[in-house]
Amino acid sequence: MTFQIAKPESVAKAELYANLQSQLQSLLAGERDFIANAANFAALLYHSLPDVNWAGLYLLKQNELVLGPFQGQPACVRIGMGKGVCGTAAEQRQTILVDNVHEFPGHIACDSASNSEIVVPLIAHEQLIGVLDLDSPSFARFDDEDARGLNDLAEIFVQATSN
Ligand code: SME
Repeated sequence: MTFQIAKPESVAKAELYANLQSQLQSLLAGERDFIANAANFAALLYHSLPDVNWAGLYLLKQNELVLGPFQGQPACVRIGMGKGVCGTAAEQRQTILVDNVHEFPGHIACDSASNSEIVVPLIAHEQLIGVLDLDSPSFARFDDEDARGLNDLAEIFVQATSN
């Protein structure tokens, strides 16, 4: 099975996320293994979204976020609830957009190239299961359209993968 990934520069954001929705649905169809689906989810985002240097998941384990499948530089393994952008998004169960990570109190720097970030909570059956995290070397790389698009993709991932 092969997947053709849309060329990111050539399409508008709305179209890009619409394409990503169908690509993710195809990628996850017929497979419920959590790690396999999370790995493909991270790879799809990393290779499809322009100007992204890290894309991956942190998974909630014993009230701590633990590094899951990702693409990008090696990253810090454990993040406490309420710590950094990931722990804050997890604690608040809210998507967090950070235009300049250097101004975010408690930001955890994993890749020194990162300047902006978006974190989307992953919620299955009303329980937090982890977060989706994307970093960019550009300032203010992510906007409300990305937040909506990534929340929709996170929902597809959770629906396809959680029991
Ligand atoms: N910057 C994140 C840590 C994870 S890395 O960006 C991959 C944070 O502040 O939670």
